[in-house]
Amino acid sequence: MGEIAKQIESYLRELKLNGLLPVYKQIGDDAANVNLTYDEFFALVLEHEVKRKKDSSINGKVKKAKFPFIKTLEEFDFTFQPSIKEKEVIKLSSLNFIEQKENVIFLGPPGVGKTHLAVALGIKACNARYRVIFTSAKSLMDELVLAKRDGSLMEKLLAYSRLHLLVVDELGYMPITKEQADLLFQLISIRYEKGSIILTSNYNFNDWGKVFDDDVVASAIIDRLVHHSSIFFINGSSYRLKDKLKNTNTNT
Ligand SMILES: Nc1ncnc2c1ncn2[C@@H]1O[C@H](COP(=O)(O)OP(=O)(O)OP(=O)(O)O)[C@@H](O)[C@H]1O
Ligand SMILES: [Mg+2]
Repeated sequence: MGEIAKQIESYLRELKLNGLLPVYKQIGDDAANVNLTYDEFFALVLEHEVKRKKDSSINGKVKKAKFPFIKTLEEFDFTFQPSIKEKEVIKLSSLNFIEQKENVIFLGPPGVGKTHLAVALGIKACNARYRVIFTSAKSLMDELVLAKRDGSLMEKLLAYSRLHLLVVDELGYMPITKEQADLLFQLISIRYEKGSIILTSNYNFNDWGKVFDDDVVASAIIDRLVHHSSIFFINGSSYRLKDKLKNTNTNT
């Protein structure tokens, strides 16, 4: 390695611009090949570093959000699920609902794409550098119960209230105790009109009384969730089943 290259690499390390280490030479060669001016070359180097920083901040946000899988809106086949209005979902992808601190609720039977859509919107939010957490209703409530036991409930609720978007998946698959319901109510109240929630459930609102074993808490939660929200009632068939049927057909 030449003296200049050594010098450059040592400066890059010192300035913590390690992302430029593997590419600076190539950028320089490319710039020379097309006769860039010094200004243009300098802009190119900076552009590279800005893009790398942005990408790594988005990746960090996606990691922190703890999505169960990575799926995008582009991967969602709206023709398979005509009960979901594509236009409405696309409208949400502008993320105006996060700016307005509104909620999104996906209701419907298993396999219709509730989690897929929730994840896809969550990823869009990460790309826009919002703070996002994805959690199942069960682990959220378990976490709140634990926090209450060890005296850190307020801290936990505050941490959740700082998020731009909280995705709560699968409300209704597990019965909810009175204690869990009360804690969930506290969380929903603390985020009410302060931050968005995307919620998915296999139950329609009429049946939430059964899930919560308590109509009063259920309706108090529904009231706050629904007040500023887009609600999707999905009533198609399971996408999982579609794949299964296709596989059986090809196997026979
Ligand atoms: N319309 C669709 N286009 C493409 N993939 C889909 C569609 N609907 C569902 N899927 C895929 O099918 C699988 C099941 O979907 P998803 O997990 O979103 O269902 P769900 O409604 O959350 O079901 P559950 O209530 O059982 O959690 C996922 O892999 C998802 O990506
Ligand atoms: Mg799901």
